[in-house]
Amino acid sequence: MGAIVPEPVERYLAELNRGGDPLLAEIARTGVDRDLPLVDAEVGALLRVLATAIGAQKILEIGTAVGYSGIWLAGALPAGGMLMTMEMDGRRAKEAQANFDRAGLTDRVSVMLGDAQRMIAKVAGPFDLIFQDGDKKMYAPLLDRLVSLLRPGGLLVTDNVLWDGKVVPGYAKRAADDGDTRAIAEYNERVAAHPALLTTVMPLRDGVSISVKKR
Ligand SMILES: C[S@@+](CC[C@H](N)C(=O)[O-])C[C@H]1O[C@@H](n2cnc3c(N)ncnc32)[C@H](O)[C@@H]1O
Repeated sequence: MGAIVPEPVERYLAELNRGGDPLLAEIARTGVDRDLPLVDAEVGALLRVLATAIGAQKILEIGTAVGYSGIWLAGALPAGGMLMTMEMDGRRAKEAQANFDRAGLTDRVSVMLGDAQRMIAKVAGPFDLIFQDGDKKMYAPLLDRLVSLLRPGGLLVTDNVLWDGKVVPGYAKRAADDGDTRAIAEYNERVAAHPALLTTVMPLRDGVSISVKKR
């Protein structure tokens, strides 16, 4: 996904983040070859840092794809911890399960196949961290439900909130009047004004918002 920060700075940050897990590097490489919309390694590292910092034991992810961000997240879990991750594409979910198995994370990841809009009504919280990276048009409609599933002090992390800069009026060269851009702009407004959340947006890669649920 797009970068907001100038390219040389992005390259510098990527260079610092090299030398990690070979499996993650392989999934990222094949993801690029297949044009899969995976988070960048810098965002993966941010997820790992946040989950580790708050001692997350129970994590929810919307939008598994092939398990790339999930491995970054689940790698922070202690024994007995659990990542529940939702994906509606059967082939991607199967590949994700295989990747979680290869990462040695089988016992702490549950891949949930189906539409997150429906499954979200049935999961039981509280979660320590929720990563929203599914359908952009569902960001705003699912917001209140996700907040209700978070524990006080828990984190809601959302990817692509700057959407290549298209949410910024007059900034992007490409036409910005599309459904996803409007949906993300609406989400950003709602998150910023949400009475139960304290939020900051990091202009890392495509923009990541981090909200803590007030105690
Ligand atoms: C941006 S990708 C997720 C990338 C993944 N988080 C990563 O970085 O490794 C979004 C994924 O959400 C899935 N998705 C879209 N709408 C969904 C829905 N309503 N329920 C469940 N999954 C959905 C898509 O099939 C896609 O694989």
